[in-house]
Amino acid sequence: MSKIRPIAQIIHPQTVIEGAGVRLRRSFGPSRQNPLDPFLLFDHFAFNDPLEGENPGFPMHPHRGIETVTYMLEGGVHHRDSLGNSGLIGAGDVQWMTSGRGIMHEEMPRRSPAGNVYGFQLWVNLPARLKMSPPRYQEVRAEAIPLVHSDGADIRVVAGEVNGVRGPVSEIAADPVYLDVRLEPGAVFTYPIPAEHTAIAYIFEGGGKMGAGEPVDAVSLVVFGAGEAVHAQADVDTGLRFMLMAGAPFKEPAVPYGPFVMNTVEEIHQALADLRNGTFVS
Ligand code: CO
Repeated sequence: MSKIRPIAQIIHPQTVIEGAGVRLRRSFGPSRQNPLDPFLLFDHFAFNDPLEGENPGFPMHPHRGIETVTYMLEGGVHHRDSLGNSGLIGAGDVQWMTSGRGIMHEEMPRRSPAGNVYGFQLWVNLPARLKMSPPRYQEVRAEAIPLVHSDGADIRVVAGEVNGVRGPVSEIAADPVYLDVRLEPGAVFTYPIPAEHTAIAYIFEGGGKMGAGEPVDAVSLVVFGAGEAVHAQADVDTGLRFMLMAGAPFKEPAVPYGPFVMNTVEEIHQALADLRNGTFVS
């Protein structure tokens, strides 16, 4: 029996304004302390009231030194970028964007027919050796993401492996797990994660217990402590749904500045100089 990871911390997301005035729920953002290495940021887009009017979105902006993972459950995000890509990340789709040395892109939310936009954006760090690598996209349509049914759990495997089923996103430096886990009322879920990996869960529906039986509920981010497996039990009335994220920390210095995360202040200055000089994207 592997040691169950206790809950080390529960983070309640803060409402922040980003882009051209987008309100979103941020659980954590990039910092020099980098406590959730290799994860830098987790945002929850939830615009569920058409009366909120237009979604202003995220007009053209740069990234360097990170990967961004956009996973939509309802509505979509229309994107276009300096590599010449454009398209819609629709409900159930995932876009895993490796900025490497530089990308400029635009991300504009689109409402579903019911008027909703609902999804997540995760930022994953790149190790120093890959921060200046060529930019790259992995776009995965909903139907290409495997769904594993197991003992009252429905698990969409974006990255990582469940019961021998591998997610389609691969060759990511942090070797991450990214799962959408839905538990029926009362169902139990246990998932092994290497002891040295960071593990977090974003609970967005229902409630239940995690770790050593500690209560959890939507909407919150659970940070797991040391151990070998994550354990969750859904409430018998509500069920439980969460994004499970785990990955190997890089243990390198993190210097974030807006949409850049580099290892040194000099590298941030270089990114800004490249933007000014028009050499940011080549
Ligand atoms: Co962006």
